Amino acid sequence: MSRSCTKNDPLKIGVLISGSGSNLQAIIDAINTEDLPAEIVHVISSRPDAYGLERARAAGIEATALNRSYYEDPIAADKLIVEKLRESGAEYVVMAGYMRKCTPELLNAFTDHVVNLHPALLPSFVGAHAIEDAYNSGVKVTGVTVHLANEEYDKGPIIAQEPVRIEEGMSLEDLESAIHAVEHKLYPSVIKMIAQGRMSLDDNRHVVIKPSI
Ligand code: GRF
Repeated sequence: MSRSCTKNDPLKIGVLISGSGSNLQAIIDAINTEDLPAEIVHVISSRPDAYGLERARAAGIEATALNRSYYEDPIAADKLIVEKLRESGAEYVVMAGYMRKCTPELLNAFTDHVVNLHPALLPSFVGAHAIEDAYNSGVKVTGVTVHLANEEYDKGPIIAQEPVRIEEGMSLEDLESAIHAVEHKLYPSVIKMIAQGRMSLDDNRHVVIKPSI
């Protein structure tokens, strides 16, 4: 499932968004300024008004917004996504704040090549309000998870996790900022590790990461 990419032969990724796209921006910036051998070949937004679409256009990346008829039909939406990503030559699908569940249409077209970012330490705090749920639960440590997507929401094999401490007196907004700061570092670093061909799955379907040389 892996190949070793270089700046001249980058890993081609399609990025799925629904909102602000700050993680998309972090990936764009890491490609432009750091040693990340990847190319974003297409950005697809589930919402036409997502600010992330402007970020994509500003970076000269082809972008598609799903209109309402697609938005309401998950299978039709995923068929269109697969078509667009195949046309663009995407090897991996990177979900960055994409607020929809993938159907088998997409998962089977890119088997074990769909990556998701979740703002909590899975398997805790699944769902769309993970930061707030962790904050309100009284836990002292939460964090960020990057995992392979499968048909069970927020449950695929975990690739990487990074903890974030909930310090005394922290507001929910403080925690959100801390989580996003970690996401913006962790996601590009995971994409780099994939682009270096260092990720595989063992017989238990656990992610194994080869050390970098
Ligand atoms: C991130 O916190 C991500 O973990 C969650 O949605 C947020 C997206 O932020 N799933 P952005 O659109 O990348 O700014």
